[in-house]
Amino acid sequence: MRKYNVAVVGATGAVGEEMLDVLAEVNFPIANLVPLASANSAGKTIQFQGEEFQVQELTENSFEENEIEIALFSAGGSISAKYAPFAVEAGAVVIDNTSHFRMESDIPLVVPEVNPEDIEKWRNRGIIANPNCSTIQMVQVLKPLDRRYSIQRVDVSTYQATSGAGKKAMEELAQQMKDFFSFKLDESPHNAFPHQIALNVIPQIDRFMESDFTKEEEKMVYETQKILHKNIEVASTCVRVPVLRGHSESVTITFEKDIDVDEVREILENSPNIVVVDKPSESLYPMPIVANGKNETFVGRIRKDLYRNNILHLWIVADNLRVGAATNAVRIAQKWIELDNE
Ligand code: A2P
Repeated sequence: MRKYNVAVVGATGAVGEEMLDVLAEVNFPIANLVPLASANSAGKTIQFQGEEFQVQELTENSFEENEIEIALFSAGGSISAKYAPFAVEAGAVVIDNTSHFRMESDIPLVVPEVNPEDIEKWRNRGIIANPNCSTIQMVQVLKPLDRRYSIQRVDVSTYQATSGAGKKAMEELAQQMKDFFSFKLDESPHNAFPHQIALNVIPQIDRFMESDFTKEEEKMVYETQKILHKNIEVASTCVRVPVLRGHSESVTITFEKDIDVDEVREILENSPNIVVVDKPSESLYPMPIVANGKNETFVGRIRKDLYRNNILHLWIVADNLRVGAATNAVRIAQKWIELDNE
């Protein structure tokens, strides 16, 4: 198989580092790897498949100079807005992990297990958008159930890890925990979140919108509809919890048809990259510590509503840096390569 020149933009960040790990693990066909970050990181070395690579400063010329063919972006929305066009201009396909392009109608928003057919639309603008971390793990579960019972409405509450806000946010939680044990938590600063995150939960992720939902909550609504190509009703409450890695979701799904819980389990067990962990009598269910470092989405607590036969409740957990970001981006790149080799 042909090999590709691959750039990782934001290679020193929480998601960027994970992208490098996933690329190495799947033995991605790389001719030349170019890790890009801010001027602060230029010259740092990173290890990739036993070799050392120097981090380069991201510039407008990075893509042309290095003849980049696949550019994975995860350095924030403003960086994607400014530099993705230079990557496209240089002939690369951009796989963008930020929210910047996601809702543009001619940009495909892809979860490979759900809507791989949309990757074809990369030709429109040269860009494929990677959805929000909480959306990815949820739609992987919704899609196979929608096929069988047809979804009308989804109500979801999330329990999101600090790593979703980047490395500094993870460090902030760790620092606050240290300060707690030194009896200094009251003086511990918080910059990544609107409140102290250690020993707390914060029912706000991103800013509040006119709808009284937050931007993160609106992302879950509109991204889910775009990926499923269906205007189902979605209501979301997104909550930050003092976990480093792994987003959890309590999901209630209302279907057009009545459900059979055994069949639901069977459908999910046979769905790609989903693992059912559901033995309540043994206290077995998904948790962040189960999902950490994994490329699968874990589902449990599967149960029918007490009142209505068309309502299902379940609990979904996935590693937000992997399934919710890096793994999904790399899976998109692998599918794109399949198209390129057709
Ligand atoms: P750097 O480490 O040099 O600041 P995280 O989401 O974990 O905070 O990571 C953000 C990533 O985006 C890091 O790799 C960071 O690089 C990168 N980044 C931030 N600002 C820029 C910029 N102006 N140009 C290129 N990369 C940037």
